[in-house]
Amino acid sequence: MRKKVTVIGSGNVGATVAQRLADRQLADVVLVDILEGVPQGKGLDMLEAGPIEGYDVRIIGTNRYEETASSNVVVMTAGFPRKPGMSRDDLLKANHDVVKSAISEAARHSPQAILIVVTNPLDAMAQTALRVSGFPKHRVLGMAGVLDTARYRTFIAEALNVSVQNVQGFVLGGHGDTMVPVPRYTTVAGIPVTELLPKDKLEAIITRTRNGGAEIVNLLKAGSAYYAPSAAVVEMIEAIFQDRKKILPCAAYLEGEYGIQGLFVGVPVKLGARGIEEIIEIKLTAEEQAALRKSAEGVKQLVSVIGV
Ligand SMILES: NC(=O)c1ccc[n+]([C@@H]2O[C@H](COP(=O)([O-])OP(=O)(O)OC[C@H]3O[C@@H](n4cnc5c(N)ncnc54)[C@H](O)[C@@H]3O)[C@@H](O)[C@H]2O)c1
Repeated sequence: MRKKVTVIGSGNVGATVAQRLADRQLADVVLVDILEGVPQGKGLDMLEAGPIEGYDVRIIGTNRYEETASSNVVVMTAGFPRKPGMSRDDLLKANHDVVKSAISEAARHSPQAILIVVTNPLDAMAQTALRVSGFPKHRVLGMAGVLDTARYRTFIAEALNVSVQNVQGFVLGGHGDTMVPVPRYTTVAGIPVTELLPKDKLEAIITRTRNGGAEIVNLLKAGSAYYAPSAAVVEMIEAIFQDRKKILPCAAYLEGEYGIQGLFVGVPVKLGARGIEEIIEIKLTAEEQAALRKSAEGVKQLVSVIGV
């Protein structure tokens, strides 16, 4: 039997996630939105691409959660995107209400699902989803690190004029201006990047990575990034459905790991059929640990504002 994915929010990120899932034949997809007609129209349009693209997956759009029942994965993209000049944190209260209502409905209809949260501010919204759903922590994760790492890898590959596939690395911390790229653990075909790029160039890449979301927002003027974000979500879903045990940086609920207690923060995790199968704890220098703690402090402030 085919897997089933519910995508809440049929906007830029949600619809592109649905399309990528269909293109890869990974699952049947239910698109949910509060807008009447939009999820239905986008779902039907994607379904009608099936004969051309050669997929048989079923895609529907709806305003009702009954049709999402028994989903294996629920992707939460509903909410308001950032506008130019607006920080992720400005979105906090508006999106908190959206996540609360949508996740409680989705969790009720798919009690065994794995939740992947995308709505910003990411770490605080993942924490909201954990609380509202009552799901165990290994079934609630946030997408940010895969995207931030993809941006980081893109810029390194560009600077060295090598394949992006040669560049491996990850970023830690909250999804925001305090994210922590770790050059010590970044390699290019196995060679430490610190051997290949001078410090100032690497610093410039790290700064650009931190501002990666804002760079796109400023270019688009209306809306925020969605091609790379949707690709990141689909990489996570693929790791889960194919039980790949793939190590990916995701927002995970920490209970003591990295010295952080009761907070969602981006860390490398092993993703497989059960969701988060392991949180990988790597050795950090005092400086990296301090940057991670600072990043976690930012998340803590947000969750205390919304009380989750
Ligand atoms: N974590 C990340 O790395 C990352 C990356 C990109 C975008 N985002 C975030 O993802 C979210 C979506 O971005 P987008 O570009 O798709 O925005 P968008 O405006 O294109 O789409 C959002 C959709 O959510 C719908 N919606 C609003 N309230 C709803 C509700 N209660 N129930 C169901 N649907 C509802 C809207 O009608 C709209 O169609 C934003 O919060 C954005 O900041 C996060």
